[in-house]
Amino acid sequence: MLEDSSFAIQPSQSKIFAKSTFFDIGNLVSSQKSGPEVILQTETGKVIIKFIREDIVQITANPLGDSCFVSSPAVVAESQPIDIKYREETDSIYCHSLKLILAITKCPLRITILDAKGNVIVSEGQRGMGYGSSKEVICFKEMSETDYFYGFGEKTGYLNKRGEKLTMWNTDVYAPHNPETDPLYQSIPFFITLRDGKAHGVFFDHTFRSTFDLQSEEKYYSFSADGGLLNYYVMVGPSPRDVLEQYTFLTGRMPIPPKWAIGYHQSRYSYETEEEVLTLAKTFIKKEIPLDAIYLDIHYMDGYRVFTFDKNKFPNPEKMVTELKKLGIRIVPIVDPGVKQDVEYPIYKEGIQQDYFCKYIEGPVYIGDVWAGRSVFPDFTKKSVKEWWGTKHKYYTDLGIEGIWNDMNEPAVFNESKTMDLSVMHHNNGNPKSHRELHNLYGLLMSEATYEGLKKELNGLRPFVLTRAGYSGIQRYAAVWTGDNRSFWEHLQMTLPMIMNLGLSGVAFSGADVGGFAHNSNGELLTRWTQVGAFTPYFRNHSVLESVRQEPWSFGEKYEEIMKRYIELRYEWLPQLYTLFVESNRTGAPIMRPLFFEYPSDEQTYQISDQFMFGDNVIIAPIMEPGKTHRTVFLPEGRWVDYWTEEDYDGKQYHLVKAELNTLPIFVKKGSMILHGQKKLSTNIKDEKLFLHFYYEPNSTSSFTLYDDDGMTFSYLDGVYFKQTFEVKTTLGKIEIYTKTEGSYQPEWSEIEFVIHGSQKDFDLYLNGSQLDIIKEQDRVTALMYH
Ligand code: GLC
Repeated sequence: MLEDSSFAIQPSQSKIFAKSTFFDIGNLVSSQKSGPEVILQTETGKVIIKFIREDIVQITANPLGDSCFVSSPAVVAESQPIDIKYREETDSIYCHSLKLILAITKCPLRITILDAKGNVIVSEGQRGMGYGSSKEVICFKEMSETDYFYGFGEKTGYLNKRGEKLTMWNTDVYAPHNPETDPLYQSIPFFITLRDGKAHGVFFDHTFRSTFDLQSEEKYYSFSADGGLLNYYVMVGPSPRDVLEQYTFLTGRMPIPPKWAIGYHQSRYSYETEEEVLTLAKTFIKKEIPLDAIYLDIHYMDGYRVFTFDKNKFPNPEKMVTELKKLGIRIVPIVDPGVKQDVEYPIYKEGIQQDYFCKYIEGPVYIGDVWAGRSVFPDFTKKSVKEWWGTKHKYYTDLGIEGIWNDMNEPAVFNESKTMDLSVMHHNNGNPKSHRELHNLYGLLMSEATYEGLKKELNGLRPFVLTRAGYSGIQRYAAVWTGDNRSFWEHLQMTLPMIMNLGLSGVAFSGADVGGFAHNSNGELLTRWTQVGAFTPYFRNHSVLESVRQEPWSFGEKYEEIMKRYIELRYEWLPQLYTLFVESNRTGAPIMRPLFFEYPSDEQTYQISDQFMFGDNVIIAPIMEPGKTHRTVFLPEGRWVDYWTEEDYDGKQYHLVKAELNTLPIFVKKGSMILHGQKKLSTNIKDEKLFLHFYYEPNSTSSFTLYDDDGMTFSYLDGVYFKQTFEVKTTLGKIEIYTKTEGSYQPEWSEIEFVIHGSQKDFDLYLNGSQLDIIKEQDRVTALMYH
């Protein structure tokens, strides 16, 4: 195509883009306080300010008329009753909670938001709120030289998004994802600004196509949307951890996943027959490579009809599922939203008869092409449709299935626009709205329907849902994988900032297709990618039709052996990972974190895209280039230990480290602990013993909270869990452990081996005041604790 060649940039093609016109919301005409709200009337529009919590404020504005509070299904928080102070002066208005101050100038109307100490966090300067020439809503904010921007969900490129212009519009992108590929499948219109070591958050809860411009102006950034009212929340922070707590207070947190969902998963487009699936499982078992799930891509269905199995290829799915479950392997089938147009297909028939599919305002049902050919799409904006779709999952749960993979739910359609006609009208529970307005919600609502449907059918078992598309709040229902990446080293590199930014956007449970989906992988790439995957919250190897095989043994024994070791390592680290999942469930903190999350006052951490933290005390610095055996690693303040060699490293500096193909560089902070379980073939196999590794640092205090439960049911919500806190104090010649337990769950394991790393001198060890026997075997210094 001519547009894809240099023709596109020939001088006569150049278009001078007129700077878009901006109409200001104007001067303040009147203002009024009403409970936790302040209502501001301007010359052209209206603004409503509402304190949701002491540290979160919502601002809704209609620059062109009346305003009212709006919120999308992303928001689940109830506002808390708080007492706000309000004061009006000649030129300005002040209102504040205990943690936030709003200073509002009247002519023109400008809002400055400050923290309780008076530090400006969000300000408008010369610009403000308004609308553009096509009546799009815009909001400008001042940007300081020292601002760094993170979050924005699933975006390509590096960690810090300053200098980018980002769009939110859920899109199926099979073309190679590169730094200018935007948007992708998820829309999370939320970001964190880090300014001089302090963080605050802005959530522009807007379902229309929206744009974040951190590129066009030197001193301002803006967010805008193609329609609707302005509606955004400001969260005061001040630490990145506080912002995540505040944002996930608004949009909800991830339920604790079943343990099997965080083991190793194997997928392929497609394992096409029952025999192939069983042989695959047996190969894993024979080779003693751990595995928790096998995915069934679109070929398992009868003519790509969802909620069916092709009886020729899968004559007995129930038997297959049962047999595999006994071996500790779950089956996760794909379910896309497109329902084949076929009058003899019950799902189509029922949906048409009940008026459950998306349709035009004039009446006809929208029909678009996907895998099954002409298809219709459930209107998940209608409660009864979500329930209907959810109930249909009984088909899978009756076969013993506990996890579903939702794909193509942008929704993707095989046409120019890649999605449904924007003029399709969604029912929206009696408040009809166009697809143009609700497009970005489709994946979220489908995942909700799937999750709730499975939950109802699973008799107390935790469901697992994997989704490609989503909107803010998606963490409440599903894990996210980053779609159709490729077997490129660059895509392995991209995986790190992408998953870190998803984690900073409330989506802790995410991962990329390990090995790369499209294109052909190779032994070295798959090995290095598997090392990274072992530490990403979601860990699945997946590859496209007709690409070279990508199972861990596909490139010969040399690579297989290393990959097997790292998949095993995933299982050894699982108790630690599970504890991090629980932390995320409680606080919204990401599992895979950028370094600045833990070290926000160290500027050197702000742009590190090629290392990440696993929790608050472990740094992973993978090799992500072919043929490389060395790399530089930045270690922040404190002292660090190489997990493999036990060599000590000083923090606040760069180091050159060596990592042959069999090594993933891992560093643990001294004066901290990590929890390990036993090597095993599936999460079905329980630990008999746990290992608490303590990295000795003289005169230090460290703490660790171990969490465990049955890993399967929701009984943890009724207190059936096990929590043990450890506080370890080191003084001259003494290590003291103080521990407490909580909860009614009886773990399968009965002992914890306390492993002491890096203490050369003799010492006495105490557990809650009583001396413990120390066992010294060669280099290993341990002690046993029982519960
Ligand atoms: C989409 C998905 C991919 C899947 C394929 C076939 O491209 O992103 O993961 O394998 O569809 O279902």
